Amino acid sequence: MDKLLITGGQRLSGSLRISGAKNSALKLLAGVLLTEEPVTLGNVPHLHDVTTMIELLGCLGADVVIDEKLRVEVTASQLRSVRAPYELVKTMRASFVVLGPLLARCGSAEVSLPGGCAIGARPVDQHLKGLTALGADIEVIDGYVHARVDGRLKGAEVTFDMVTVGGTENVLMAACLADGQTVIHNAAREPEIVDLAEFLIAMGADITGQGTFTIVVNGVERLHGCSYSVMPDRVETGTYLIAAAATGGSIRVQGAAPETLSVVLDKLRESGAQIAIHDDVIELDMHGRRPIAVDIETAPYPGFPTDMQAQYLAMNAIADGTSRIHETIFENRFMHVQEINRLGANIEIEGGSTAVVHGVAQLKAAPVMATDLRASFSLVVAALVASGTTLIDRIYHIDRGYETIEEKLQLLGADVRRVR
Ligand code: EPZ
Repeated sequence: MDKLLITGGQRLSGSLRISGAKNSALKLLAGVLLTEEPVTLGNVPHLHDVTTMIELLGCLGADVVIDEKLRVEVTASQLRSVRAPYELVKTMRASFVVLGPLLARCGSAEVSLPGGCAIGARPVDQHLKGLTALGADIEVIDGYVHARVDGRLKGAEVTFDMVTVGGTENVLMAACLADGQTVIHNAAREPEIVDLAEFLIAMGADITGQGTFTIVVNGVERLHGCSYSVMPDRVETGTYLIAAAATGGSIRVQGAAPETLSVVLDKLRESGAQIAIHDDVIELDMHGRRPIAVDIETAPYPGFPTDMQAQYLAMNAIADGTSRIHETIFENRFMHVQEINRLGANIEIEGGSTAVVHGVAQLKAAPVMATDLRASFSLVVAALVASGTTLIDRIYHIDRGYETIEEKLQLLGADVRRVR
């Protein structure tokens, strides 16, 4: 199993190009199932989760070609199966979003329930509620969701009980081929939802309201092929900015979407970073200063993203002062705390959903273990600022979501090596 060896103490400095967004690319790849025509996606990140989604598309009967510019062309002209097997869905929950497109295009789908995962129970009741409102007949048999509809799905009003990114995506994609109008109330407003809607519009869908709480979809009979470029990864962008700030460094990220990161950039300024933005470039400079402790409360977009909570917590671990980090999206997203404490941090969990972080002047290397994707990068941040050499085990979690992590960190001057 791969591990990362990081010797801390270097201030990150230099330039970095941001990859395409994992959490958008995966949904766009599922959306391809809505048409028989070829679709070309550019700026697709080279990540383990993307490979899993491509494997799933292949399993369903789609042809996938990756060209010399790493564009992915998918042709789902004839699907030979509507079953997404447990073996693939269990390794990546995002694959559950093939349910809506398969059902809308083929009239039936069998998709394994994703089950719980390290960060929380993560049920899919809202996905099923939305698709049922569109006329699907849904049963759960032996751990698989069996969804069927006679003829086309029918447009309907769908009101989610809570903001759900995946639920909004599944219903949005299904509604594109439904008969009539669908109105999604309490829709997620994440930039990845907007990217998915823009992609579907490029395929001929009639969608308005993306990026607001109410999305209106007028169903069409068919969608066509298109070429589309995946949006920049806002979580990767924020993660490297936080890592640089934690080390007192100075970096320039290119190919970013700064407008999707307002809250994170504001928090970084509160932590003492000087930030400048020009088009798709974000420059951050900490001028060698120790970060100031800053309180965080995660919330659906445009609030502070849960996917950057762990990384910010790691920075607060060595910040000047005490901070409170309140996680409101997932019930078990503090597994990194125990590991960061192994490096000498002073963090307590209060009532399950709040971490109280008493900043210490210095962390000290120790072996640690990654528990989930974003938590693993929080260990990288902690290791970058710790004295000595930290060994991070189980970094397959990182490879699910961060493209060429050690190359990117080395480019910024970090002392990092992958070992087996
Ligand atoms: C997406 O997960 C992202 N994953 C997550 O990123 C991200 O943390 C999350 O949105 C929130 O922003 C992908 O896009 C692949 P939700 P998703 O449905 O869609 C509850 C990462 O590290 N809920 O918005 O699964 C749920 O349990 C990952 O890249 C229900 O109760 O998240 C959670 O508490 C981790 N019933 C909350 O809603 C449902 O039917 C938000 O979940 C659906 C969700």
